[in-house]
Amino acid sequence: MIHFDSIVKHYPLEAGFFAREEHKVFAVNGVDFRVEPGEIYGLVGESGCGKTTTARLLVRMERLTGGNILFRSRDGREFRLAGIGRADLAALRSRVRYVFQDPARSLNPRLSIREVLLSGYRYSPRWPGRSRAEEEARSLIQEVGLSVGDLDRRPADFSGGQRQRISIARALITQPEVLICDEVVSALDVSIQGQILNLLLRLREERGLTMIFIAHDLAVVGYVSDRIGVMYRGVLVEEAPARTLMANRRHPYTQYLFESLPVLRTDGESHRRRGDPALRATFSRRADATENPVSDATFLEMDEPEPGHRVSRIFSDAPRR
Ligand SMILES: Nc1ncnc2c1ncn2[C@@H]1O[C@H](COP(=O)(O)OP(=O)(O)OP(=O)(O)O)[C@@H](O)[C@H]1O
Ligand SMILES: [Mg+2]
Repeated sequence: MIHFDSIVKHYPLEAGFFAREEHKVFAVNGVDFRVEPGEIYGLVGESGCGKTTTARLLVRMERLTGGNILFRSRDGREFRLAGIGRADLAALRSRVRYVFQDPARSLNPRLSIREVLLSGYRYSPRWPGRSRAEEEARSLIQEVGLSVGDLDRRPADFSGGQRQRISIARALITQPEVLICDEVVSALDVSIQGQILNLLLRLREERGLTMIFIAHDLAVVGYVSDRIGVMYRGVLVEEAPARTLMANRRHPYTQYLFESLPVLRTDGESHRRRGDPALRATFSRRADATENPVSDATFLEMDEPEPGHRVSRIFSDAPRR
């Protein structure tokens, strides 16, 4: 179980000569949600709304400005990210692994795939020995749909989708419980996207993985997620089981996001729905927050109109339909 407990992350704005203390980016501004063991939790929202920052805080690639993150691992060990020590952090990072959007940049082109996979052990406090590690690499490369012969090749020999499979295999080598998938299909063609999403779903079934699946595309998130959290300007504006959210969107921002989904036409061209002009006028501003919308902590409390469906009061004054 992971509890993002009212987490806050502020960054200083571009440090100019006149920059003052209060000039900040409110990247994550009091976000609170839980991810249960074995579920795929989708985080969706436009560029800059704070999805990556939320995920990076979990593995301490960023430090919290406020709040805390609790991770209770399956063996009962508890980790609290605020003030976590080195040994605990190493143990956490082998249990929670991060898969990035761009495998071309995250895979060292000089390494063989075998070396790439074994480099995943860097995030583990435990090295199992060369022969055990190689055995694991052989089994993993097949588990993600490639072959043992591919271990001797280099990243440049593979397509984008295959490289993403390799990144996933590298993340799995420490036998993690949690996989953070940050825009892992965003750079891929639609047909390849489906294959990678199905691979993730299969891995979840076979390994009982918990996933935090991040994307700006609501259709992609809706396809894989059990539950979805919608972020806008550093705030969680709505959370619900995926089906509920797709069928019964309550926050006007979720409605806006849904209306801006591309609609596929039979001729293969896609176009954007035009959507409600009032929603567009309200939400077409940048998704990142340089002004603090949260003037009062009670504002962060979410309404729960039905069990498991939470809706924020922030940014909710746009017309509802
Ligand atoms: N290291 C940093 N220094 C300053 N500002 C940052 C830093 N990292 C992120 N930000 C800002 O924090 C906000 C949230 O960024 P974040 O990367 O979490 O958004 P995101 O939802 O992942 O967006 P995207 O879909 O583009 O990946 C943005 O305004 C971003 O510019
Ligand atoms: Mg991001």
